[in-house]
Amino acid sequence: MNCIAAVDSRFGIGRDNKLLVSIPEDMKYFRSKTLDKTVILGRKTLESFPNGAPLKRRRSIVLTRRSDAIPGAEIARSVEEALELVKNEDPDNVFVIGGESIYRAFLPYCSRAYLTKIDYAYEADAFFPDLDADPEWEVEEESEEKTCFDLCYSFVTYKRKEEMK
Ligand SMILES: NC(=O)c1ccc[n+]([C@@H]2O[C@H](COP(=O)([O-])OP(=O)(O)OC[C@H]3O[C@@H](n4cnc5c(N)ncnc54)[C@H](OP(=O)(O)O)[C@@H]3O)[C@@H](O)[C@H]2O)c1
Repeated sequence: MNCIAAVDSRFGIGRDNKLLVSIPEDMKYFRSKTLDKTVILGRKTLESFPNGAPLKRRRSIVLTRRSDAIPGAEIARSVEEALELVKNEDPDNVFVIGGESIYRAFLPYCSRAYLTKIDYAYEADAFFPDLDADPEWEVEEESEEKTCFDLCYSFVTYKRKEEMK
């Protein structure tokens, strides 16, 4: 399984249950990576979507301890339940899409992290784990620097390091 997030220079990902910034090319990148795939997300991130509705053309698994059904999504009440729901999927087709609590809970199961790294420090209240400080992760690929008005950003793929035998 993989995770995908847009992070600022301090690995901030959100504030007040909203994204820090919306970059059209990043939205396109997210869509191209996740379309027709399975996404795992937290209930708060689902609520942050337009109309609180699951994303179209994706199998959505929402982590929640609440009992209400969510039209268009499957519910998992624990990490283990979510892992059980995706056990027959090709792991490359499963994307963890946030928020903070879900990234932290599923990172141990992820082999790649597709991060859009934005070169600006926002006032965030939600964060992605700092992969630059994590010896288990390394940068696999990095796009050239891109700009959106006065913002600079790049698409960086992190890979979990092979285990030393
Ligand atoms: N920059 C990005 O790429 C990106 C992507 C996604 C989200 N975000 C941001 O991230 C922030 C939200 O993150 P968050 O951590 O506050 O919320 P979240 O992870 O989206 O959702 C938290 C909720 O998930 C459920 N949950 C979490 N762990 C669970 C477990 N082990 N078992 C069952 N349910 C579990 C609980 O739902 P119940 O309360 O219903 O039980 C919990 O309240 C927002 O600011 C959002 O905009 C940013």
